[in-house]
Amino acid sequence: MVTTKSLAVALLSLTTRVLGQQTCATINPANPATFASSFSGRVVVNGLSRPRSIVFDNQGNLLTTENAAYGVRYIQLNDFGGTNVCVKSQKQLIADSSINHGIALTPDGKKLFVSSMTTVWSWDYNGSNGTVSNKKTVITGMSDSGHVSRTLLIPKAQPDLLLVQVGSNANLDTEAAQASSGRSQIRIFKLADLEQGSQAYTAGEVLGYGIRNNAGIAETPKGGIFSVNNGMDNMDVNGVDVHLTNPCEELNYHGLITAPTTPERGASYGYPTCHAISDPSVLPAPLNASIRIGDTLTNGNSSARCTRVAPKLCFPAHTAPLDLKFTADGAAAYVSFHGSWNTSPPNGYRVSRVAWDAETGMPAANVSGTAAVTDNIMFNADNANCPGQCFRPVGLAFKEEGRLFVTSDATNEIWVVSGAT
Ligand SMILES: *[C@@H]1O[C@H](CO)[C@@H](O)[C@H](O)[C@H]1NC(C)=O
Ligand SMILES: *[C@@H]1O[C@H](CO)[C@@H](O)[C@H](O)[C@H]1NC(C)=O
Ligand SMILES: *[C@@H]1O[C@H](CO)[C@@H](O)[C@H](O)[C@H]1NC(C)=O
Ligand SMILES: *[C@@H]1O[C@H](CO)[C@@H](O)[C@H](O)[C@H]1NC(C)=O
Ligand SMILES: *[C@@H]1O[C@H](CO)[C@@H](O)[C@H](O)[C@H]1NC(C)=O
Repeated sequence: MVTTKSLAVALLSLTTRVLGQQTCATINPANPATFASSFSGRVVVNGLSRPRSIVFDNQGNLLTTENAAYGVRYIQLNDFGGTNVCVKSQKQLIADSSINHGIALTPDGKKLFVSSMTTVWSWDYNGSNGTVSNKKTVITGMSDSGHVSRTLLIPKAQPDLLLVQVGSNANLDTEAAQASSGRSQIRIFKLADLEQGSQAYTAGEVLGYGIRNNAGIAETPKGGIFSVNNGMDNMDVNGVDVHLTNPCEELNYHGLITAPTTPERGASYGYPTCHAISDPSVLPAPLNASIRIGDTLTNGNSSARCTRVAPKLCFPAHTAPLDLKFTADGAAAYVSFHGSWNTSPPNGYRVSRVAWDAETGMPAANVSGTAAVTDNIMFNADNANCPGQCFRPVGLAFKEEGRLFVTSDATNEIWVVSGAT
């Protein structure tokens, strides 16, 4: 006799065969992640060698830098929708032990840029067969000490440009007060110039300087450039140690990339002199009564306020934002907070959603409030276990609307997160 249930099972298996549905095998995470409601995620690939920045090519393949002395990896995906994503094939695309972080692809998918601490190279790239050729050294002479990551961005609004970031060479890098130092800044290069031959880093146009370690740079759908900065360690104000909750990890705005004469273009963001305060309550009196979140103070024995381009948002101290990516409608940005050593209890180690006003192109929250982050969407259940037993997010990339891929260098994984609108 044919029961309703057996009929339903038969129909289901028919449906499965007709649609060719398949399921990726579950990969157990090295350390579990917790997701906010309406978000879910799982591990797509593990066993990598400290994956850092990621990009998708025009064929839907994932490219990641691996900084444990490996280079660039090319990953073809079996993508069955949602979080049902796994590896179809993978191979090392570029072997180079000095490649450590940055990666960018031109929007036509044909030119790949990758960075080491000191150098940027380009290759001709074919996403269909996963090959590179025609290696060129395009930028040389970046700082060889201190912060080592060199983030790269080719803005979609102006895809003939490459933005390159260099951090400070120390916690407080005195020379970085000058743009000519080539440190704590973002510079702009024309791809056509790089095609002619390599350029020294300091030959690029300064987009912004006096930004300690601007690890993440991203573009809104309208071409507004934002970056996330890692603030100084061990901050002191008039002899009072305020470092556990200060300074801000800043979100800074650099103007529209298509508008070369904005007030932000080429401006100073204050480092190493000026630091934005994230927790005024621990400042010595009378500063504790007058300073608001996001106001800037000089480090050390001074109550002087600073002249600088002020941050647009203030994230909690030492959460270490490393990347940000905007949704296609410009209503939110997702930020990866890698976490850092200079606070206790540990903070960061999560991916967060930050609401944006798509009309104005600015974040929805006020810099002087405490609501810079709208939601933490992927986090470790107990930060007390960090960094040892936590995932640590670095690179972010949308495959398409709603699906965000996240690298975790500490656990050698790439995750897919759905619900990221
Ligand atoms: C891949 O494409 C490149 C050109 O982009 C070509 O030179 C190369 O021979 C191709 N390799 C394979 C294995 O198809
Ligand atoms: C890329 O590789 C594919 C497969 O080998 C080849 O058919 C195609 O022509 C290549 N594209 C370019 C631009 O060379
Ligand atoms: C600031 O002043 C305090 C108190 O006078 C002193 O203890 C501290 O060493 C000074 N800090 C710096 C950086 O000069
Ligand atoms: C600032 O600090 C002083 C001295 O500790 C304290 O008396 C005062 O209440 C504080 N003010 C605020 C607004 O926290
Ligand atoms: C943030 O709030 C303060 C205090 O209410 C206000 O003065 C300032 O204009 C606001 N800033 C923005 C960007 O809205």
